[in-house]
Amino acid sequence: MKPRDLSHHVAYQAGRGIEEVARELECDPSELIKLASNENPHGPSPAAIVAIRDAATDVSSYPKAAHADLVEAIADRWEITPPQVWLANGGDGFIDYLHRALLEPDDGILVPDPGFAYYGMSAHFHHGQVRTYPLAADDDFAQNATDICDSYNSERVIWITSPHNPSGSTMALEEIERLAIETDDDTLIVVDEAYGEFADLESAVALIEGRQGFDAREDVAVLRTFSKAYGLAGLRLGYGIVPATWADAYARVNTPFAASEIACRAGLAAIEDTEHVTRTVETATDAKATMGDRINAHVWPSEGNFVLVDVGDATTVAEAMQERGVIVRDCSSFGLPNCIRITCGTDAETERAVETLNAVLDSHVEVGDA
Ligand SMILES: Cc1ncc(COP(=O)(O)O)c(C=O)c1O
Repeated sequence: MKPRDLSHHVAYQAGRGIEEVARELECDPSELIKLASNENPHGPSPAAIVAIRDAATDVSSYPKAAHADLVEAIADRWEITPPQVWLANGGDGFIDYLHRALLEPDDGILVPDPGFAYYGMSAHFHHGQVRTYPLAADDDFAQNATDICDSYNSERVIWITSPHNPSGSTMALEEIERLAIETDDDTLIVVDEAYGEFADLESAVALIEGRQGFDAREDVAVLRTFSKAYGLAGLRLGYGIVPATWADAYARVNTPFAASEIACRAGLAAIEDTEHVTRTVETATDAKATMGDRINAHVWPSEGNFVLVDVGDATTVAEAMQERGVIVRDCSSFGLPNCIRITCGTDAETERAVETLNAVLDSHVEVGDA
């Protein structure tokens, strides 16, 4: 007995956890800070914590009512109809649902390189083919329709990450519209807005709904998540927004009850706690300014809750920072062996990250000079 041929499948490389690193360094976890997975440094909204506690007694029931309530709250937030909301087990769950709904065997998807690994992994699970379009570091990872069209070969789905992980670049709605116009009618443009709350940019929901002067489109969808600005990464809650014309496909592709009762209750509380999101976004804005001003290396401008830094040798620098208690993301696995990605922390965490990185960079210059 063997699994099917999985030789084309690569394992997802998550940022390392504090406990795992503390064990390896034989230190107390409280001595470490983790700025490697773009999590919320303020934790979940206090209202979500209360909702999680309160939901504990209800977990013997399937999350049907909670699911409907949350879908309605999300639909209100975006001024769309509830069926357009595809609630999922994290944004990752929505990526799977879309591929289930769209891909026939051997259909292609087009994804950014560098980019978020799960688009390709999920397409492979669904017997799809994966091709990439390049985003260039020396062009600040700029995203525009012309360059993506150069790589386009009638793929069924094109993934746009805006803000982009790991660079923080964005794609203007006019460019997304142009891409949708220039590609085939049955090519879906999915705009992954996992970091949308942090960006000074309107959501691509405007393209789906025909707002702000855009014509309504059936070939654009949007991904959003509760993992980042809402601080619920551990609960696994995300959703997609799709055009009303084909939204009913959800009923035929979703995994029943994949968004848990606790996740739905917490999501409902979190979506109403706008104060927590505002505070989170303000902290990230300050952290980006601090890192941009004070890090002694090239920091790309970012619209996410993280920055990408050119440090020369990412693995050496990330390991040296880790030894000094600051866990950051070595971007070698993104194909950027000279870059690390640092998540925006609290003021104190960001300060420590800046000082640690500058000290590591200084010590490496000295080693190089010796
Ligand atoms: C660009 C991007 N999209 C989607 C996700 C998925 O997030 P989640 O499954 O936690 O909602 C992530 C997570 O890091 C991400 O960086």
